[in-house]
Amino acid sequence: MRKKVSFVGAGNVGATAALRLAELDLADIVLVGGVHEGMSAGKALDMAEAAPLEKHHSRISGYTNDFDEVAGSDIVVISAGVARRPGMSRDDLLTTNRDVVRGLVERIVPIAGDAVFIIVTNPLDAMCHVVLETSGFPRTRVLGMAGVLDSARFATFIAQELNVSVENVSAFVLGGHGDTMVPLPRYTCVAGIPVTQLIPSQRLEEIIERTRNGGSEIVNLLKVGSAYYAPACAVKEMCEAILKDKKKILPCSAYLQGEYGVDGLFVGVPVKLGSKGMEEIIEVDLLPQEREAFLRSAQAVRSLVEAMRRLNGKDSLKSQATGQDNRQARQAKRRGSTPRPGVPLTRE
Ligand code: 2OP
Repeated sequence: MRKKVSFVGAGNVGATAALRLAELDLADIVLVGGVHEGMSAGKALDMAEAAPLEKHHSRISGYTNDFDEVAGSDIVVISAGVARRPGMSRDDLLTTNRDVVRGLVERIVPIAGDAVFIIVTNPLDAMCHVVLETSGFPRTRVLGMAGVLDSARFATFIAQELNVSVENVSAFVLGGHGDTMVPLPRYTCVAGIPVTQLIPSQRLEEIIERTRNGGSEIVNLLKVGSAYYAPACAVKEMCEAILKDKKKILPCSAYLQGEYGVDGLFVGVPVKLGSKGMEEIIEVDLLPQEREAFLRSAQAVRSLVEAMRRLNGKDSLKSQATGQDNRQARQAKRRGSTPRPGVPLTRE
């Protein structure tokens, strides 16, 4: 049977990721959203017309606010919401994007109850909480796209520094998708050689700092909107691992339940991805200073989620995720409630 991946949010990240994935010929593509009527349909048609040239067979369709075609999706990528502008942190987007994401998930879950959610909307780790709690999905099927992007940025800067192929670099980044992320040189290699043997520590620190600010660097250059080519490729990488059941280890924002000493929080860690989503969280040994940096990053995520909880009028950080699929209970509850009217999809 043909696979289906839906991209909810037809801005730059969603549309570019949709195109990259279509070119892999792995799934049919549904694009939903856009700031005006016809945007998704127009982008989808444009992409479909590229298929004879790129020689792929993915069916691509687009809808402004009609979710019917999302039904039965294997993966739903959520990139809807407002994007950062210069001077804004990812966290500044908290309340606006929380409401957008929650409304979307409420519409998607009843029709795509077996999908894996990949969240791109910022602030990423906090939005993962919104999706986990709103969907009632098990943690294995709610993942945030951040570590793949942050590692790619780290790898790019290392390859540029050493004037070597980017293919030689295997970069490792842990933690939240924010200024506290933890690029780990000790686990970063160039053709199998630890990067610590190739780049002096002071220079490596500068590269790490640039990686942490990789998103802002692009926001400041673009002036309107945020990065999308690399984020889109990162989404494609995660989708491909899931669609092909690759069992590929990629850094993703995952809901930790004791791993790395963190409980009840989405933080970036290495995850094995297969057809069911997250199959395993890989725990690596950390030196005391690495652990400290990781826990600091986790604390930054926790503060953000707590702020969101206060705004939600909830007081407990612990989500209802139990590792088991409690979707049915959620759906039963939802059946007794009035469905939300259409939720406007805003620009990424
Ligand atoms: C970034 O880091 C969009 O958060 C994304 O560029």
